[in-house]
Amino acid sequence: MPSILVTGGASGLGRSIAARFADAGYDVCIVDINAKRGIETEAMLQAKGVDAFYMTCDVCSDTDFAAVREAIEQRWGQLDVLVNNAGVATGGRIESGTMDDWQWVIDINLLGVVRGCRTFTPMMVSQGSGHIINVASMAGLMSAPLMASYNATKAAVVSLSETLRVELEGDGIATSVVCPSFFQTNLLESSRTESEAMKQSIGKLLASSDITAEDIADEIFRAVDTRTFWILPHKKARTAWRIKRYLPDLFVKQLRKQYSRILTRKTVENA
Ligand SMILES: NC(=O)c1ccc[n+]([C@@H]2O[C@H](COP(=O)([O-])OP(=O)(O)OC[C@H]3O[C@@H](n4cnc5c(N)ncnc54)[C@H](O)[C@@H]3O)[C@@H](O)[C@H]2O)c1
Repeated sequence: MPSILVTGGASGLGRSIAARFADAGYDVCIVDINAKRGIETEAMLQAKGVDAFYMTCDVCSDTDFAAVREAIEQRWGQLDVLVNNAGVATGGRIESGTMDDWQWVIDINLLGVVRGCRTFTPMMVSQGSGHIINVASMAGLMSAPLMASYNATKAAVVSLSETLRVELEGDGIATSVVCPSFFQTNLLESSRTESEAMKQSIGKLLASSDITAEDIADEIFRAVDTRTFWILPHKKARTAWRIKRYLPDLFVKQLRKQYSRILTRKTVENA
């Protein structure tokens, strides 16, 4: 049976990815720091008749990752698909928050992905096959205001993925990067934002999505089949990305307009 490891697999997109691949017969390992949801998800996956197990693994810990690699080596002897999905959200103007918030989001969103890649690349190289899927965000391509630290981590994940795409292809390893816009998950629970009002605004954006975590998981599943690098599931976001590349000045004009609308709304709310 092919096998998959999903970090942050106990909730949201990670859980949907695990379910989608289990439906296709993959053996699944999910890792997370939320043991309660992890064990619930493990039971849901086992009910699909595949070999599925949960391990607590903080993506900030090299020791935790080493334990996961050992468990996978012993159980399956190899790993076909690695999904570096675990992530948290931050929001606020550049002068808000603390340097600790920056360290926190970088350690999870960027270095968590780096640790996943570094832990499992040697195994995939010796297999001569594998697929690494890194979950970034449209935030990493759009660089919208009020999200500097989140944007910076996700842009770095895009860059890391572009690097690996070429660096590892000769070893039979494919790479994909997933850049969704907002969609409904539990992301708000762990988010650190400058104010409660900003948290509420992000909550509204998550709820406004026209596609679900299941839709995105389905697109990721198809991308493994076709070895597609870019996975941009939201149609509007794909258009915005094209505008940014081909008409950069127009793109910045649109960002300024959106930002001034946010500032006007804030002024009205505070009046
Ligand atoms: N929801 C969105 O709108 C959206 C948009 C673009 C990108 N993303 C990205 O999708 C990915 C999944 O997020 P989600 O929206 O499903 O949120 P979620 O909160 O539902 O799931 C994230 C999971 O990651 C786990 N996690 C957090 N820190 C961890 C750590 N240190 N070690 C291990 N696990 C940890 C959480 O416990 C949780 O189970 C994230 O990388 C996020 O940045 C989400």
